[in-house]
Parts: sequence; C-alpha cells; structure tokens
Amino acid sequence: MTLSRVGVLGGGRMGAGIAHAFLMAGASVVVVDINPDPALERITRDVEKSIERGATGAAADYLSRLSCVTSASAFEGCELVVEAIPENFDMKVSAFKDIAEAAPHAVIASNTSSLSISDLAVTTPHPENVIGLHFFNPVPASKLVEIVVAETTAPALVDKARGWVSDLGKTPIVVKDSPGFASSRLGVVIALEAIRMVEEGVASAEDIDNAMVLGYKFPVGPLALTDIVGLDVRLGISEYLASTLGERFEPPALMREMVARGELGRKSGKGFYEYSD
Ligand code: NAI
Repeated sequence: MTLSRVGVLGGGRMGAGIAHAFLMAGASVVVVDINPDPALERITRDVEKSIERGATGAAADYLSRLSCVTSASAFEGCELVVEAIPENFDMKVSAFKDIAEAAPHAVIASNTSSLSISDLAVTTPHPENVIGLHFFNPVPASKLVEIVVAETTAPALVDKARGWVSDLGKTPIVVKDSPGFASSRLGVVIALEAIRMVEEGVASAEDIDNAMVLGYKFPVGPLALTDIVGLDVRLGISEYLASTLGERFEPPALMREMVARGELGRKSGKGFYEYSD
C-alpha cells in the first residue's frame, strides 16, 4: 500500500468498513467520529473475522495501527481522508472544512452515494485534491469502488486513486460526477421497472427476480435487493434522480404506498418479501 496514514471521518457502517480495508492493506488509520467507541468495536470485530478467514498476522498487530478519536485535528499528517458521515450536504461541507484545516495537503474523498462531488470540492481550498471514493456495503465483501471525478479533480489524482483501490484488493471504475454515478443510476432504474411490473401484475416479485437471477445471472434479483437496501432509501434516491435526470426515475405509486405503510424491506420485516428473523 502506497499510503501510510489514512483518515476516515465517520466510523459507522461504511466508515468502519473503509477503515478495516485500509488497515488490512497495511496503512495506519485514524477514525474520527462524534461517538468513536462503536466504531472501534466494529472495526475490531471485522479485523478478527478477517484473521479467522485466513488473513495473515495477529489481530493485535493490525489494531495497533488504528486509533478512534473525536477530534478532526487527529487527521494531521494523513495523505488521504475519506469522509463517511451521514448523507447531508451541509454537514459534509462543514466536515470538509475541518479536514482541510487539520490536513491541508491531504486528498479528501467522499463516500457519498448521491451528492455532487464537484459541489463539495469547490467549498475547499484545494478542489483539485477532492474526489469521490464510493465503497459498497458491506465493504469487506464488496469488490467494487466507484472513483467519482469532479470537474475540478486533478487528472493525476484519478490515477493515484486507481492504485489505492487496487491496493485494497478491490476493482475501481472511473465515473464522471453525475447524479447516481454509474451504479445507483443503473441499479435503481432496473428496480423501478421491476416495481412497475409488480404494480401492473405482469408477474410475481419472485418470478421477476428469478428472471434476472436465472436469466441474466444477477446475484440477487432487483426486488430482493430493494428489500435489502430499504424501500425508503431507494425512494429517496429515485426522487433525487427524477429531479436531476428526468421522469424515467419517477418512483412508481406502489413504491410510495409501501413506504407509507412502513413496508421498508428487510429492516421492517416486510417489503416485496416477508422476513421472520
Ligand atoms: P452511518 O449512519 O452508519 O454512519 C455515520 C457515522 O458518522 C456515525 O458513526 C456517526 O456517529 C458519525 N457522524 C455523524 N456526524 C459526524 C460528524 N459531524 N463528525 C464525525 N462523525 C460523525 O452511515 P453510513 O451508512 O455509514 O453512511 C455514510 C455515508 O456513506 C453516507 O454518505 C452514505 O450515503 C454513504 N453510503 C452508504 C451506503 C450504505 O449502504 N449504508 C453505501 C454507500 C455509501
């Protein structure tokens, strides 16, 4: 790994996974979170799991390169800081300011799943040093990272980012900063069409998913995946994409009705399927 010291802002579901990935690749990692204890627990668990699954070395050695703290000043000396706090533009702008103050020369990467990297970049003193690194959930098991290139991103940084992602054992794809990047834009449009097909009674949810799993070799059907992501989350994304890319992303009435009924997918026990666990 060419990076020796990496910062991660926000040690929640995604940030903890990102911190784990850089630790396993050999970097020292500083996680800053308003509540750092759960982040430390989550990363410790993930490192132990990786060892059980065959990673070489002792968990204590990996964890000796980790610190989880509350103050962004700990980012001093980091070459890269990945921001993974909640999906709120104003919060991220304020976080970028803190990162730039603590580590003026660091590359700042956002893990945002929908916000414009270009809009975030121009709020910093060095917009050429800002890029999107969109990891997938769960990070340890996901091989893909979208590198999102803002209008201001230095071309040399894109090459560097490709190298970092490869060092993590993941595959980078390079995408222009545009709504939904590549993955959400394509994934959501397929899900919306599948929901419209349920709405029109074309086939059952199970048969529509089987069409894609067995016919097109998708690892999971678009409706089952919508249950995993959460209907409310996908509704929010499709509303945003409809407002930016046009009405082909307009959420179907069935999706709105299900969200209003609290049928959010796995997390609520019911979505297109029922869940007992
Ligand atoms: P989360 O809610 O699990 O974690 C957010 C973390 O940030 C929490 O630990 C919280 O304590 C911390 N935090 C909040 N405000 C903070 C601040 N001002 N300073 C420092 N720490 C702060 O959120 P999650 O799911 O990890 O999402 C983070 C980002 O990743 C979002 O932008 C989201 O859109 C994006 N993302 C999420 C995916 C998912 O499947 N959950 C997938 C890909 C991207």
